[in-house]
Amino acid sequence: MQSGKIYILAIESSCDETSAAVLCNQKVLSNVIASQKIHFEYGGVVPELASREHQKNIVPVVDQALKKAGVDKEILHAVAFTKGPGLLGSLLVGSSFAKAFALALRLPLIEVNHMQAHILAHFIEEAQLNTSCHPSFPFLCLTISGGHTQIIKVLDYYNFELIGQTLDDAAGEAFDKTAKLLGIPYPGGPLIDEYAKNGNPLQFPFPHPQVAGLDFSFSGLKSSILYFIRDQTKLDSNFISKNLNDLCASVQHTITAILLDKINKAVQQSGINQIAIAGGVSANSYIRAKLQEMAQQKNWKVYIPRMEYCTDNAAMIGITGYFKYLKKEFAEQSTAASARLEL
Ligand code: KG4
Ligand code: ZN
Repeated sequence: MQSGKIYILAIESSCDETSAAVLCNQKVLSNVIASQKIHFEYGGVVPELASREHQKNIVPVVDQALKKAGVDKEILHAVAFTKGPGLLGSLLVGSSFAKAFALALRLPLIEVNHMQAHILAHFIEEAQLNTSCHPSFPFLCLTISGGHTQIIKVLDYYNFELIGQTLDDAAGEAFDKTAKLLGIPYPGGPLIDEYAKNGNPLQFPFPHPQVAGLDFSFSGLKSSILYFIRDQTKLDSNFISKNLNDLCASVQHTITAILLDKINKAVQQSGINQIAIAGGVSANSYIRAKLQEMAQQKNWKVYIPRMEYCTDNAAMIGITGYFKYLKKEFAEQSTAASARLEL
């Protein structure tokens, strides 16, 4: 393994965030994120528009990341980029840029799996909210994002075992689709979180899916919310506006209970009681608070990342790139982006 200071430029472009970061070993020197506002009026990410926005953003975002870090591109050791999973057109912009940049500067190229990166974000220096330590191996990670819901046994920086996942919608989709039903603009997750702060989580009980083992299902919840709202608005056309806070709090409570129930099962089955959460939905304040509450009751150790390392960001690509650099896991120029890359 190489010691000393390793400088890595990282690029993330899997969905609707164009991000570039510069890391020195596990320390983030800059983490620039351009969030695309263009999708707002469409109520969801429009893939073709996302690719075009990435094309507009990528050069200024990388430029800013290098300037903010105070790092000249000549001292970089490698370029890391998101290979997948994600939107193919969006991934192509980041991967093409990374390849060209690496080729021009004769730097090694490192391809990164976006889902592994969400997990390894926990190893960024100062990644944690309440502790300066990082999880030790093995630990369980609940990765909850717009496209994925997974429980992963993390054996080390390079070995991940998927032990549970959603059979249909992801937790983030449950938030975003509920928001759409309630007339809340995209992405609904953060707004549901806000409205729920003034609502009663037990006001409207929604059913929990019965799914065997450690897998999840969220599509039934979406349908029951849809039918409930349809029936209630027939009785009172202002039902949503009168009950918005309680509706948000109740849905959020149900999603949280489903997630925590499975994590509890995973702890029992694996005997591992170190839990990390990752992905955009792990920014949710209720999930964070309830997990901490449960951990105290059950004597688990939990790792909750800072907000900026929950939602999509290039720093997490950089930290994963750093660990791959240590093992000299470099990619060829012929490598291709992959929309459906497995963990
Ligand atoms: O990890 P991420 O940024 O992108 C993907 O890789 O998918 O996750 C995005 C998801 C969206 O569904 C968004 O609504 C959700 O994370 N999200 C939240 C919160 N912040 C972001 N969901 C609930 N509460 C939040 N505070
Ligand atoms: Zn993500």
